[in-house]
Amino acid sequence: MAWCMQDKESSWLKIVEQIKTCTLCPLHKYRRNPVPGEGSLNAEIFFLGEAPGRREDEMGRPFVGAAGQLLNKLLEDINIKRSEVFITNVVKCRPPNNRDPKDDEIRACSVYTDSLISLIRPKVIVTLGNHAGRYIFEFLGNRRWLGISKIRGKVYEVNLRLDLRVKVIPTYHPAAALYNPQLREALESDFKLIVKALSEVRGEGRRPTLLNFIKH
Ligand code: URA
Repeated sequence: MAWCMQDKESSWLKIVEQIKTCTLCPLHKYRRNPVPGEGSLNAEIFFLGEAPGRREDEMGRPFVGAAGQLLNKLLEDINIKRSEVFITNVVKCRPPNNRDPKDDEIRACSVYTDSLISLIRPKVIVTLGNHAGRYIFEFLGNRRWLGISKIRGKVYEVNLRLDLRVKVIPTYHPAAALYNPQLREALESDFKLIVKALSEVRGEGRRPTLLNFIKH
């Protein structure tokens, strides 16, 4: 479906309003601020993280704490501006004491996660950590999730049950890499795959065919 920018903006605002008043799972009881996500509604790249932490809960914005600083640096290294991408999490409210989100909570929040993916229709989805990877692979992609360390390091073509075919790049969560140089190296190498995937979806680097000349 082709969206005009005004439609997109108003659909986004509706989703934000629903998240602000959401009581679908128990996490709403603990939140200071829900964290719907942020970024460009026309983003080609969609980042899916795990859950807001303390800073995110205070600010109502995703990835603004220490893991966010690393995410910013990783994006900078591949020359992609944070404002060009869209970032959200599998749950939009902070779990108490930063515990892992539970399956029921991820499932309850999927109504918003799926609406955001359908609204933005990204070309590339980068999943950060096990929960996000499993969500895209198993829940939306009907594929087996074998755990992040087995699956990372490659670009996957996945048909999501949202009538959308995307390239998926599963990688570690930046928080896990903060004090682990090996995981950080793996993250840096996976981020280079984003550039490759993007140039593929944009059709860059392809040899021009006769059709290209006719088109111009
Ligand atoms: N970790 C996440 O998974 N998401 C955030 O927004 C912040 C930290």
